[in-house]
Amino acid sequence: MTLKPSNPARSAPLRPLVVFGTRPEAIKMCPILIECQKRPTEIAPIICSTGQHREMLAQVLGYFGIQPDIDLGLMKPGQTLTGLTAACLTAVDQVIQDQKPDCVVVQGDTTTVMASAMAAFYHQIPVVHVEAGLRTGDLMAPWPEEFNRRVAGIVTELHCAPTERSADALRREGVPESQIRVTGNTVIDALLHTVAKERSDDAALREKYPAATADSVVLITGHRRENFGGGLADTCDAIMELAKTHAETQFIYPVHLNPNVQGPVHERLGGLPNVHLVKPADYPEFVWLMDRASVVLTDSGGVQEEAPSLHCAVLVTREKTERPEAVDAGLAELVGTDKQKIISRVSHAIAERSKNAKNSQGNRDEIVLNPYGDGKASQRIVDWMLERWPS
Ligand code: UD1
Ligand code: UDP
Repeated sequence: MTLKPSNPARSAPLRPLVVFGTRPEAIKMCPILIECQKRPTEIAPIICSTGQHREMLAQVLGYFGIQPDIDLGLMKPGQTLTGLTAACLTAVDQVIQDQKPDCVVVQGDTTTVMASAMAAFYHQIPVVHVEAGLRTGDLMAPWPEEFNRRVAGIVTELHCAPTERSADALRREGVPESQIRVTGNTVIDALLHTVAKERSDDAALREKYPAATADSVVLITGHRRENFGGGLADTCDAIMELAKTHAETQFIYPVHLNPNVQGPVHERLGGLPNVHLVKPADYPEFVWLMDRASVVLTDSGGVQEEAPSLHCAVLVTREKTERPEAVDAGLAELVGTDKQKIISRVSHAIAERSKNAKNSQGNRDEIVLNPYGDGKASQRIVDWMLERWPS
């Protein structure tokens, strides 16, 4: 299926509706918006936040200096997947009716992405999918993200695949070659933009996160729905055990605001002297924390892509990943959520890193070559849109 932009004979700049709603979408979309700002005569995005996230989204937009033209403010505490999907579909539909954009740009695999792509399809407006083609092949892992990403893919005109592997997944699904381009992942554009800045002046961060200046730091995140309940509880129990047996190691855990995460994490890990449960960190702060950490324990998609660049041992609390490139390159390891396995693999990583202390490595400042991108993904994505829909 090839849709035409709603306004094919355009003489003005291309007007994409760029939609995002959560923290990771904003981190990965802001570099594209910054790239558009460099070419105002060619491309003039209409920036729409669904507000699927509130505080965690505001943190990112503030840092990148991006102000949405439209804020749908959809987040409700404890929102359900169905409720959010319905609200998002209805609200984005109205935005498309009002704005009549040339195309709709979405990023990743959230409810915002799936619903916005569907709304664009109902208006027969082409979709540009950033970070296309990631697959585990299992609809239940990650849940519901594998479904969201596949639905968006069905209606996408330009598939911006971060890697050859994701492009291959699209080819296997029958997407024509002309609709696939390997662009790299914009998360690396954002990381490169941020890391140098944070390293140059980190006095305030050292004061805010004194634990992060220790020699041995484990940074933790976790929020996958398929880990709610048993998986998250077992991961917390493993962290508790590790904290007791590694008293010299500092465990820093910025806790996701989802109440299904906040409750169990605070209940199980609150009060341990070397476990620091902190608020979600501002994006540049989190990049700095990754830069300080020797080990990262996470089920996050974005963190799997970033942390390998910063000399961290990356242990992934998932059984399957749609980002296998780092695992194949020996830069990350899937450890699942089995308590004993987490204890064993984190202990091993802590010991390895103390032999080969990250912070005394001569090349610590070097950004490790990363399979997910080279920092030029946004440029390639904007180039492709302008090439496909010239004025
Ligand atoms: C969502 C995405 C997930 C993504 C993650 C990134 C879906 C289905 N899930 O999961 O793919 O990996 O974001 O973080 O799209 N909350 C706040 N403030 C915020 C953000 C969230 O209070 O700034 C709380 C609210 O109670 C909200 C709840 O977290 O209802 C869940 O938010 P939601 O976006 O539905 O799911 P996430 O778990 O954040
Ligand atoms: N991140 C952040 N603050 C934190 C934790 C993570 O800014 O406290 C950033 C991180 O650098 C990465 C992104 O958030 O770019 C990942 O988002 P998240 O883990 O929420 O979602 P996922 O990538 O799993 O969809």
